[in-house]
Amino acid sequence: MRPSARTSAGYRAYSAGDVERLREVLAYRRLGFGLREIADLVDDPATDVVAHLHRLRGLLLDQRDRAAAMVAAIDRELEARAMGIRTTPEEQLKVMGEQLYDTIGSAYPAARRTEPRIAAKVRDALGDAWTVLNVGAGTGSYEPPDRDVTAVEPSADMRAQRPAGAAPCVAATAESLPFEDQSFDAAMAFSTVHHWQDPIAGLREMRRVARRVVVFTYDAGTTGWLQRFWLTRDYLPEFAGLLVDWPSLAGLTRAIGGRAEPVLIPWDCADGFFEAHWRRPGAYLDEDVRRAVSVWARVGPEAEQRAVDRLRADLSSGRWAERNRDLVALDAAELGLRLLVARTIVRASTARSRPRSPSMGGR
Ligand SMILES: C[S@@+](CC[C@H](N)C(=O)[O-])C[C@H]1O[C@@H](n2cnc3c(N)ncnc32)[C@H](O)[C@@H]1O
Repeated sequence: MRPSARTSAGYRAYSAGDVERLREVLAYRRLGFGLREIADLVDDPATDVVAHLHRLRGLLLDQRDRAAAMVAAIDRELEARAMGIRTTPEEQLKVMGEQLYDTIGSAYPAARRTEPRIAAKVRDALGDAWTVLNVGAGTGSYEPPDRDVTAVEPSADMRAQRPAGAAPCVAATAESLPFEDQSFDAAMAFSTVHHWQDPIAGLREMRRVARRVVVFTYDAGTTGWLQRFWLTRDYLPEFAGLLVDWPSLAGLTRAIGGRAEPVLIPWDCADGFFEAHWRRPGAYLDEDVRRAVSVWARVGPEAEQRAVDRLRADLSSGRWAERNRDLVALDAAELGLRLLVARTIVRASTARSRPRSPSMGGR
């Protein structure tokens, strides 16, 4: 840019035309054009100012849409990772391109519902607790409707899917609960501990903020976890890889100072968690059923495809039925699911406990 003129005092004087040109240069620069290309563009005699503005506007809108798509994809990946789901290299590349991938969050509400028989056990374990903290609350399944519930959920995607009228939800993680010591009658966590970065730290936090702790989780101990469930035993041995570093049941119960009770899974379980369809094997062929469970994304698409193909073949050949003949007679199965309960004397409180820092995120 050269000034069109100088003032009598020798200062550079830029005309309106200079400013227009400068604006175009800066806009093209911001769009990533090189100086030589910019010189050709702004000096093109066939393009007037209005045509330049239209072109710039179109280019900037394109860039804005691409950036917005990338931000959305990155947010989804962050949330997937917060849920313990590792994206494949292919999916990660998509973040840089046009295609966005569906996250488990949007598939969740369709398949994950409250199973009333398990909810009854959770309610029993909560006893007469009035103020209840639900950690890793997701969309709010298992939150008792007749208590004063506060939810904690780190994923914005999940918070956004909580139904209207659901309990207030704080954006936080289990490992660092923003509440005073012993500020709730009870803290509960359902099907979430295996997603936490540090399960023991999270459980200790629950114990710190509540006088009673109720946790629905699984026993991945050495007593044949993989063998217990035909799906992992015969079709998805990769599941074992997800259990590396998972604390023992004894370690989990010790962290809350409680004990573990087995929870049998009814054959027609309404909540579509991983083990729910143990007597309805055809359900695992349904993509929607699998998308609502993080295990499938965590083992990766190859293992998933192989497991589904083999299961489909075994179901049509009758091999699955042959191998699992005993299951047909069962109404409920022991698949390693556990309710961990730490009971102490509960002093029912009447006031809602307030977060230590007021981070009541979007519901
Ligand atoms: C399988 S969902 C269960 C949600 C809900 N409890 C239910 O039963 O429907 C697991 C939830 O744990 C949440 N989560 C992941 N990491 C967490 C952490 N460190 N602290 C608390 N929640 C976490 C996820 O965002 C997700 O909503």
